[in-house]
Amino acid sequence: MTTMEHTLGASIARLESRAKVTGTARYAAEYVTDDALYAWPVPAGIARGEITAVHTEAAMTDPAVVVVLTHQNAPRLHPVEDRTLTLLQSSHIAHRGQYIALAVATSLEAARSAAGAVLVQYKADHHDVVLAEDHPGLYMPEEIDGLWPGTREHGDFDTVYATAEIRTDAVYTTPPMHNHPMEPHAATALWDGDALTVYDSNQGSVTVQHTLAQLFGIDAGQVRVVSEHVGGGFGSKGTARPHVVLAAMAARVVGRPVKLAVPRNHMPAVVGHRAPTIQRIRIGAGRDGCIQALAHEVVTCTSMVGRFVEAAALPSRVMYIAPNSRTAHRVTRLDIPAPSWMRAPGECPGMFALESAIDELAYVCGIDPVELRIRNDPQVEPDSGLPFSSRHLTECLREGARRFGWHERDPSPGTRYEGRLLIGSGVAASMYPVVILPSRAEVRADPDGHYWVRVNATDIGTGARTVLAQIAADALTAPLGYVHISIGSTDLPEAPLAGGSSGTASWGWAVHNACVRLRGLIEHSGGSVPAGGLSVSADTTEDVKSGQEYARCAFGAQFAEVQVDTDTAEVRLRRLTGVFAAGRILNARTARSQFIGGMTMGLSMALMEGSTMDPEFGDYAERDFASYHVAVCADVPAIEAHWIDEEDPHLNPMHSKGIGEIGIVGTAAAVANAVHHATGVRVRTLPIRPDTLLPHFA
Ligand code: MOS
Repeated sequence: MTTMEHTLGASIARLESRAKVTGTARYAAEYVTDDALYAWPVPAGIARGEITAVHTEAAMTDPAVVVVLTHQNAPRLHPVEDRTLTLLQSSHIAHRGQYIALAVATSLEAARSAAGAVLVQYKADHHDVVLAEDHPGLYMPEEIDGLWPGTREHGDFDTVYATAEIRTDAVYTTPPMHNHPMEPHAATALWDGDALTVYDSNQGSVTVQHTLAQLFGIDAGQVRVVSEHVGGGFGSKGTARPHVVLAAMAARVVGRPVKLAVPRNHMPAVVGHRAPTIQRIRIGAGRDGCIQALAHEVVTCTSMVGRFVEAAALPSRVMYIAPNSRTAHRVTRLDIPAPSWMRAPGECPGMFALESAIDELAYVCGIDPVELRIRNDPQVEPDSGLPFSSRHLTECLREGARRFGWHERDPSPGTRYEGRLLIGSGVAASMYPVVILPSRAEVRADPDGHYWVRVNATDIGTGARTVLAQIAADALTAPLGYVHISIGSTDLPEAPLAGGSSGTASWGWAVHNACVRLRGLIEHSGGSVPAGGLSVSADTTEDVKSGQEYARCAFGAQFAEVQVDTDTAEVRLRRLTGVFAAGRILNARTARSQFIGGMTMGLSMALMEGSTMDPEFGDYAERDFASYHVAVCADVPAIEAHWIDEEDPHLNPMHSKGIGEIGIVGTAAAVANAVHHATGVRVRTLPIRPDTLLPHFA
């Protein structure tokens, strides 16, 4: 009974799939509570300044409206580090769309209409919302996220670059992008005395629990956060967001449960977004394509209320041999909504620039871009000098080239016509670091052979719940059907967030350890479980310190084929093939979904996604799905995701690397490189839309 259907790696369907497709899986706004009220927030109508007066009389005329909260009557909150969460505490406006009032009513319609009837007067200050390469506010952050130095130098970039045989120098730009998970940020909040329960859509309920406790001045033990099913997050649900604070605040004021779901067109302003980047990459190389000097310099922006910096130069510290290098970030504060994590922050926009630049170098040198990458593949991580725990980028490139039919390709750009279509193909590498965080987990055995696993993991649509059950079944050598798993509540053993592609490795390690020890206990007692059951809990705080003597990353290679309409300049993706090396793959079905999902986001980034800051208005112009286009089924051609077997003993007991984000990294560059191969036009600004390309066909 130990192997077969539950073996790690098997294609197990999601445990909650039936509940999801039949509509019985409950999301945060769907919890039925007696007597619930509905809340609708009011966004600020200026980008910077002060509220001088708020008139709520008109909003209150509808008897369905219970209260309108503003900075004048809202309960006081205690300060927290994330200043986007100290809501309705002052008359100051830090960005357009910031929540400044909340209407609460017996119906959603009444709340919405009351929110619209709140009259706010402002004193507007001049606002500054546009990022520019020469913005006077640019400064060099010493560190980013407390994790990475803002700038790194090795050797002497300037001298070696100046004398290199081959030199490239180009600027790549990426636009603001928005997370837009299918399920908007939503919460249902209810108080019982000083005890708060929230059903909340987030990527990690422990952070939400602690943030709410701090804000409301109560013990974390008095806050219960339930996040059983979450309809996507893409980074924007990695921390508590305004909706859950407002729902809890309103519920406290009215003494009844309150529901709040963020309207789609508010999301770009209140849940984080990907900041725009301007990235200059200079490469000095020999005629053999070997890189001698590499500079990756990033200019980006953050908000007045946050500290987030898009760490786009990080990939250049990991990817290629570069004895002389400079990787640096400069950032400026603008009066914009707070940027934050979005779908492989740092690596994703950074690898668009780096992998485009590598393709440019390959063309200049006349070397195949697959071969050029292999020539520059390092033995140790260039920045840290640490050996890689495993690095199979070369294998991914070779296997991808074989599957894609890369070598049948004529490398000359702009020459393959099919009627009015130009056809081309491109390649790019992918990379995402291994992140493992401490976690707890608990497992109980019952005498009847059933096992109960408890861990406060969050399944944001990835299949985490299913993979954790597989890890448990494997460690217990029990059939999957006898393993019952509870996740998604702060009542369960404490666990970190679903972010940084760290979830399965982090939670799974704790589950694995608890299950192995429980199995040992059962074997020790002659194979039987006493009447009262047996239970074991695990805490991996010490375990996760191992492996730090290695640089640990997942790698991949992506190959894209595009067609470009020479009349309309519309780019369509024809094929996308990805090959990844991400340690042991624990569930082939959910892993494939993760890779394909990431690659879809990547093609979406390449060809569609991006918003524009309106300098006068002071906010993003595209705030709904009519104007902010994300890839839909019709945009997605044959995507293939494959992986190579990678044995890496320096990770965790499952030997797994994270797979959530690597699929998006590199995709946009593969598409842009294919567009160049098709047309001979090098597009260095995303997204690649007809308005970008058409002028080149005139
Ligand atoms: Mo992901 S952007 O680390 O949630």
